[in-house]
Amino acid sequence: MKKIQLGTSKLQAPAVVVGCMRLADLSTQDMNHYIHTAIEHGANFFDHADIYAGGKSEELFGKAVHEDSSLKREDMMIQSKCGIKPGCCYDQSKEHILQSVDHILYRLQTDYLDVLLLHRPDALVEPEEVAEAFAQLEKSGKVRYFGVSNHKPMQMELLKKYVKQPLLINQLQFSIPVSNMVANGLEVNMETEGATDRDGSVLDYCRLHDITIQAWSPFQMPGWQGVFLGNEAYAALNKEIKVLADKYQVSDTTIAASWILRHPANMQLVAGTTSEKRLLEIIDAGHITLTREEWYKLYLAAGHQLP
Ligand SMILES: NC(=O)c1ccc[n+]([C@@H]2O[C@H](COP(=O)([O-])OP(=O)(O)OC[C@H]3O[C@@H](n4cnc5c(N)ncnc54)[C@H](OP(=O)(O)O)[C@@H]3O)[C@@H](O)[C@H]2O)c1
Repeated sequence: MKKIQLGTSKLQAPAVVVGCMRLADLSTQDMNHYIHTAIEHGANFFDHADIYAGGKSEELFGKAVHEDSSLKREDMMIQSKCGIKPGCCYDQSKEHILQSVDHILYRLQTDYLDVLLLHRPDALVEPEEVAEAFAQLEKSGKVRYFGVSNHKPMQMELLKKYVKQPLLINQLQFSIPVSNMVANGLEVNMETEGATDRDGSVLDYCRLHDITIQAWSPFQMPGWQGVFLGNEAYAALNKEIKVLADKYQVSDTTIAASWILRHPANMQLVAGTTSEKRLLEIIDAGHITLTREEWYKLYLAAGHQLP
């Protein structure tokens, strides 16, 4: 498994993260098998959120780990997120963060999280409160490292004015078709759709500050309309992917994953598959380094342009 250094920390983490958002659909036995397979292949970093399946993902994962004495907590890195109150609002208040972490730890049946992310920016955020919550969580040993998700650079700067702990991670949607964070840096100053900067140049910001980008929904089309692999709407892209899959003797999934891992920002890819076979294909992407020309070919085949 390819490893990356997590943000400014000394932590080495697998390049492929096991996303647990869809795992609640598995039986406890299948969940257990899935966790074993992932760890055996070096994918020992698990991404949760308190809202996944209304808490069921964390609960089932916690149960599967707890009931299996061969799975050791210290052999895993467990990350979760808080700050979304479904059907209500976003909440990064001190009280909500602290309460959420207690509930997360209870569901996961663990004493600590390796990483806590703030799931989405809160319009009413008071960064002093976030700072107090993080300080308390670090001091109590309930959370070791911190980060954010779906945050713009200036929102991170605002947090960093008060938060003492380094923000190691920003989890952002990124795939070959959903790559405006690349496009807006290529189509600078053009009157093109790709030139629209929707993220405050978050890719450059994260590279500049050594913040690890975790790419979520790495195989999804824009608008979360399903997987682009094998989809007619992305016929040209799938054709190019196939050419490379034949060249490297791997699956289309491996090639699509290798496109993300090839970026020099050293991103982590958060895989959402519930299939062990696909997970292994995604892990395999760490062995492939696409050439510059191949990387750009896939980017262009997804409908992006170079000015
Ligand atoms: N921070 C955020 O706001 C945020 C938002 C969404 C997700 N996430 C995180 O990101 C993770 C991944 O998100 P995601 O599940 O949307 O991403 P994904 O990996 O792009 O999608 C996985 C889904 O695509 C299906 N799929 C079909 N063909 C596939 C193929 N060839 N290769 C891979 N998958 C294929 C999978 O089905 P099978 O199960 O049958 O393989 C599964 O239903 C989540 O688990 C979660 O941890 C974070």
